Amino acid sequence: MAIPDSYLQELSARTDIEQLISPYVNLRRSGRNLMGLCPFHNEKTPSFTVYTENNSFYCFGCGAGGSAVNFLMRMERLDYVEAVKALSQRVGMQLPEDNYDDGLAKKRLRILAANREAAKFFYGQLKEPGSPGLDYWLNKRGLTPQLVKHFGLGYAPEGWNNLLDHLRGQGYAPEELAEANLVSRSEKNGRVSYYDRFRGRVMVPILDLRGNVIAFGGRVLDDSKPKYINTSDTLAYKKGRDIYALNFAKNDANGRLILVEGYMDVIALHQHGFTQAVACLGTALTRDQAQLLSRYAGEVVLSYDADEAGQKAVQRALEILGQTNLKLRVLKLSGGKDPDEILKAYGAEKYRQLLEGAANEIEFSLLRVRGDLDLETPAGKADYLREAAKILARCSQIERDIYASRLSEELQVGKEAILAQAAQERRRGDRRQERDRQRELMKLQDAQSVKTDPQRGLHPAAAKAEERLLGLLLRHPDFYLRLRETLSPGDFVTPFNRELAEKLFARLESAQGVEPELLTGALTQREQDEAMRMKLACEAIANPWQECEGCARKLLGERPKDINVSQLDENAYLELFAKMKNHTEDD
Ligand code: UTP
Ligand code: MN
Repeated sequence: MAIPDSYLQELSARTDIEQLISPYVNLRRSGRNLMGLCPFHNEKTPSFTVYTENNSFYCFGCGAGGSAVNFLMRMERLDYVEAVKALSQRVGMQLPEDNYDDGLAKKRLRILAANREAAKFFYGQLKEPGSPGLDYWLNKRGLTPQLVKHFGLGYAPEGWNNLLDHLRGQGYAPEELAEANLVSRSEKNGRVSYYDRFRGRVMVPILDLRGNVIAFGGRVLDDSKPKYINTSDTLAYKKGRDIYALNFAKNDANGRLILVEGYMDVIALHQHGFTQAVACLGTALTRDQAQLLSRYAGEVVLSYDADEAGQKAVQRALEILGQTNLKLRVLKLSGGKDPDEILKAYGAEKYRQLLEGAANEIEFSLLRVRGDLDLETPAGKADYLREAAKILARCSQIERDIYASRLSEELQVGKEAILAQAAQERRRGDRRQERDRQRELMKLQDAQSVKTDPQRGLHPAAAKAEERLLGLLLRHPDFYLRLRETLSPGDFVTPFNRELAEKLFARLESAQGVEPELLTGALTQREQDEAMRMKLACEAIANPWQECEGCARKLLGERPKDINVSQLDENAYLELFAKMKNHTEDD
């Protein structure tokens, strides 16, 4: 798995990290660096920083950081070798040998290949004589053959081993197919057997943005339950991460996507020319998916089912999408249950009208709080105004002005009074938001540091010295030769930092570099994140070597050296315990 440092250095030198990241993040210059909204967590003020001087990045909000390769790993969900390859391809370099693939990457590719074969098989089944699949798509759903082909729709026949036998014939082992979740495994009386997971269902393949078949949804042909069976998580697929049909819609979005609830809605919309329709699969919208949408559109129109469940889902989706920069609108369906039905009953023109008239987020929210309030009574009016003011408080100044005028007319209340109430809500909201943001950041840091190393909480003074020392060493690798006379990784008190020190010291001992691009393959993602944090924290230190020595001395004093706890009598143990506690407290 070792890719030569010289290769990684050249790769980094040839990479323009600004060019690499800017399709994903809107970057603005800020001093020597670039800043933008972090693509790895939801935020409204930029904490994501790109350092062009050494081709690295770090987010002060969520703590993600590393080299250009780390960025690709996270963004495109690649493993290390895949990401090195992808970056190499961009800059026209060729990995020296092709034997770096580790087992997992191979398995994943194998699953993708099996999925592709399965999709071909399901599609081919539509043409089998007597197969009910084609009839379902063409007649029951009214699709054109072109559209069936475009979406790669298919049919999984009745029977327990059609796909299994077909793929076995192509050299896939049943165990592999079970890992792809294409077949299920059962064990009875110690005998293991495999059988097709999808039987007697019409099949919808799910493609990622690069055109890989990552999963399937299989629908019954009648009204039996469960309506859909979907692929569970595999090495190639994780529920809640991808968006159905985004591979098609991203080219036609023109800044706007239509988000619907069902596969069938997407397919029907595409057939009627609304090729910017997408769906989140099988689950309520997740933050990951919201993030993904915001990378491909500026506006999302929610077009969910008209029923109670659908409207609740709209509310939840608005909350999650509200944390991105997306503009939001909500399409209100009348005369049908879902977009598919509207299109069938009234045609595309009707849907286009609904789309154009879709309430923006403000109108939708106002309609919602208005609900069943009786605006004829003073109490009802007051309730409505109070809730409306909260909504206006979150709007831009222009919007506030427009909607205050409308409300003033609608309710016969002075516009100034409405604006004053909105201003009051705004101040309240700002304070709350600031508090929430700080609390959230603190929680995040806490959770992270305890997760990486619970010991950090027990030895805060030592952990601080360790981190400072490692940060300095990352900035000044030449310190190592002086440092190693006195200090070894064994002197580190907290396990996470000790492990990191071991890896860094080992590299420095054999005269290897510790630049971000070289550490990516040597450290875990978490270690790389933390290493970036430690290094950045040491940016402005006046006398780095003195500081470094000071940290080392602190650690040597801190280390509970030659004490074997199990041999202490109870008093000595208690004394030691009290001493350790003091250390923690005087930090
Ligand atoms: P719908 O019931 O609206 O399905 O569920 P649909 O795709 O519009 O199908 P038709 O029009 O009734 O034939 C919306 C989505 O919820 C998920 C699927 O992703 C579906 O597209 N779902 C629904 C499941 O995963 N499992 C189920 O049993 C039902
Ligand atoms: Mn539906």
